[in-house]
Amino acid sequence: MILVTGGAGFIGANFVLDWLDGVDEAVVNVDKLTYAGNLGTLRSLHGDLSHIFVRADICDRAAMDILLADYQPRAILHFAAESHVDRSIHGPEDFVQTNMVGTFTLLEAARHYWKDLPATAKETFRFLHVSTDEVFGSLSPDDPPFAETSLYAPNSPYSASKASADHLVRAWHHTYGLPTLTTHCSNNYGPFQFPEKLIPLMITHALAGKPLPVYGDGQNVRDWLYVGDHCSALREVLARGRPGETYNIGGWNEVKNIEVVHTLCDLLDQLAPKESGLYRDQITWVADRPGHDRRYAIDARKLQRELRWKPAESFESGLEKTVRWYLEHQQWVNDVAFGDYRKWVETHYARSA
Ligand code: NAD
Ligand code: DAU
Repeated sequence: MILVTGGAGFIGANFVLDWLDGVDEAVVNVDKLTYAGNLGTLRSLHGDLSHIFVRADICDRAAMDILLADYQPRAILHFAAESHVDRSIHGPEDFVQTNMVGTFTLLEAARHYWKDLPATAKETFRFLHVSTDEVFGSLSPDDPPFAETSLYAPNSPYSASKASADHLVRAWHHTYGLPTLTTHCSNNYGPFQFPEKLIPLMITHALAGKPLPVYGDGQNVRDWLYVGDHCSALREVLARGRPGETYNIGGWNEVKNIEVVHTLCDLLDQLAPKESGLYRDQITWVADRPGHDRRYAIDARKLQRELRWKPAESFESGLEKTVRWYLEHQQWVNDVAFGDYRKWVETHYARSA
């Protein structure tokens, strides 16, 4: 079996659902269930014996040791993280704890488990660390996209904590020989994304008749990838990636934020028209994110060349699928976006108004 951390969050859950749909191998899913982790996302797996959910914190070394000893996974896919840049600006401590200390703890547990494995299992074991393109910092309009060789230049508490984790993973390979793989993916979107992130936030606010808050001048560029394509890339890296290597994952879809918001509004005008007016009328300009990275773009040629991976969705097809999914799953949004999340929206957007 494989062990997944953070498999009740957006990308981890999509990965687990896709894996169990297509692969005959069990998953141990370890998640602390923070505000971003939701068991409702995994509801379709109720009664499926190949999915074992364990609520645990990756910072808890004893719990990680027991899980590895009990389940003897052939690989660990490490998704668990604090992932929202704005939250990292308001409160960086959880980011240092989970992304740095948690990754360290997991690496140590993995190293001790791995070193005592029988020779063949030791040879084939993999630790796949899911990182982000944000560790490379911000690009100017004419810079080439980030390559695997780009220098680290993290700018937010979130990206600095992910960069620190990447360095630990690199060192555990170099020093101890742990067979690690690290991936750097660009911005994901798709089903089950927590509504604090740009695309689901705009869809859910639009449908609720609330303002659509665009930061700064709306000209920041992100490189969008449909979550199912991220998951298919991770399966390829796990199967055929070379230990110690890093792989960029992206879909060559650079879009300015304001264009993303306009496209979402236009899709909603077609699929869920308002009684009067257009969704674009709800756009409001709010104060910029402090230290806001201007542009991310990913050069994914290594993955294509070495592992023959290509994304299946275009931005247009992926975005339409996503809008339709949120229209059909408004109950999921209501279930996850309560209490603390409502408070977060009120305080964060009051400050940035
Ligand atoms: P998410 O915030 O939706 O989910 C994170 C999950 O981790 C949640 O289920 C949460 O409960 C769990 N978690 C948090 N702290 C934990 C802890 N201490 N112990 C155990 N579980 C814990 O995040 P996501 O968007 O699914 O991102 C998953 C990974 O992918 C992260 O490592 C992130 O840095 C990386 N990534 C995300 C994107 C993106 O666009 N969302 C892009 C590239 C890389
Ligand atoms: O690049 C990969 C990263 O993408 C991941 O590592 C992070 O975990 C993930 O959260 C994402 O980070 P971003 O900061 O790029 O994503 P976010 O959805 O928060 O914002 C996308 C862009 O939209 C960014 O330029 C800020 C802007 N934005 C965001 C929100 C929430 C707005 O203009 N208004 C908003 O309300």
